[in-house]
Amino acid sequence: MPAYAVLGAHWGDEGKGKVIDYLAENASVVARYSGGNNAGHTVMNEHGTFSFHLVPSGVCWPHTQNVIGNGVVVDPEVLLEEIKMVRDAGLPGNVSVSDRAHVIMPYHIVLDGLEEERRGSDAIGTTKRGVGPAYVDKVGRQGIRIGELLNPEDLALRLPEIIKFKNETITKLYGGDPIDGDEIFEKTRRWAAELKPYIARSEDLVAAALDAGENVILEGAQGALLDLDHGTYPYVTSSNPTVGGMLTGLGIGPRAFAGVTGVFKAYCTRVGSGPFPTQLDEEEADIIRNAGPVGEFGATTGRARRIGWFDAVAGKYSVRVNGMDSMVITRLDVLDGWDTIKICTGYEINGKQTDRFPIDSQMLGESKPIYEEIPGWDGSTAGITKPEQLPEGAKRYINRLEELLGIKAVMISTGPRRAESLKLDDLLK
Ligand code: GDP
Ligand code: IMO
Ligand code: MG
Repeated sequence: MPAYAVLGAHWGDEGKGKVIDYLAENASVVARYSGGNNAGHTVMNEHGTFSFHLVPSGVCWPHTQNVIGNGVVVDPEVLLEEIKMVRDAGLPGNVSVSDRAHVIMPYHIVLDGLEEERRGSDAIGTTKRGVGPAYVDKVGRQGIRIGELLNPEDLALRLPEIIKFKNETITKLYGGDPIDGDEIFEKTRRWAAELKPYIARSEDLVAAALDAGENVILEGAQGALLDLDHGTYPYVTSSNPTVGGMLTGLGIGPRAFAGVTGVFKAYCTRVGSGPFPTQLDEEEADIIRNAGPVGEFGATTGRARRIGWFDAVAGKYSVRVNGMDSMVITRLDVLDGWDTIKICTGYEINGKQTDRFPIDSQMLGESKPIYEEIPGWDGSTAGITKPEQLPEGAKRYINRLEELLGIKAVMISTGPRRAESLKLDDLLK
């Protein structure tokens, strides 16, 4: 029963979309299990350049079923738009969405904005896509699930009560403008009609593929350090991008796993607020941000990403909380041309040195990185596809990351396009 977890190892945007599009050639199912359209997964191949927010990144392969699991929160407008985009590109768009995935309703998006405003200087820097408020309603047992859209009579009974409460919150607590309940109900009718062909019991689809011995890729969104439980709380997202989220978010058991692969960028980035010990000053950050064919700007919000050296302390923590047994290193080409490259191997906190990741955000914010400097490399790694083309310095860098994290790199990504990939070992067996 080979399920392969491919997840973000740091703060998201590690290049999961690129890697999964490459790997999906050998998978019959690619399944998302957490998050929503806060994610932006960039895929570049012969069919075009796509930024997928909800649709799994296997969607460019005709043989791949792309499953949006029950753990995902779904904005139906975004999903329908993405399916259309994929079809317009001439792709079959084999997509299904769990009947138990929760719906991001228009009031969730309004509340995401208002809550951020209220936080003022403590704002989390959310993507304002309504993801947090939708999960709040899921946990608060007043969410609406995709399957319920198909039952308008019940929805017509429930929705007015929910909207009344939301409008009280929006107007009385935040001083915002009320939302129109009738308009929302009408939207749910349209969503139901248009989404109906895609709604399925997603756990059955995944189970059938696993039972048949077919490869299933579990597609992470966000990254381990944005995890609600294991990340840098409160500067996190509202779901579990780490490996545990796969079990609950898709309804599979632990014996299904054949491997857990972390996707690491060759350096670190973070979008939004929160501690980031290795963050570079803007002058150095700009060099990395603008290097390579695509700069470091958010695929969802367009925000400039914060940039830092590779944080192996955080990386080791991520390996542990996910039980990773291998890794992929992306954007290696972006580090071409540096004389020396730094790797953070420890922190100094209140005058004491440690290689243990402090999960407390305040303590992490006060942590000073301790760097090991290693020489960079001459020559370009951009687009290389064979291990023997790797400059010695690049090999040394990869080997050092492997040593520090205690897992092997199975693939190196050397450019944003599918083909710009260097395989060191088979990830899908
Ligand atoms: P994701 O959210 O983890 O899927 O990552 P994003 O798509 O948000 O961000 C990764 C960015 O890096 C995108 O613009 C990709 O096209 C790009 N990318 C992925 N792999 C590579 C690589 O190996 N080299 C370069 N230069 N860009 C890459
Ligand atoms: P992918 O899948 C990077 C960040 C936001 C913010 C925090 C909470 O593309 O790697 P939210 O809207 O989730 O409530 O915002 O999480 N964030 C991401 N950062 N990549 C992502 O997804 C992210 N999804 C959310 O910037 O700091
Ligand atoms: Mg992204």
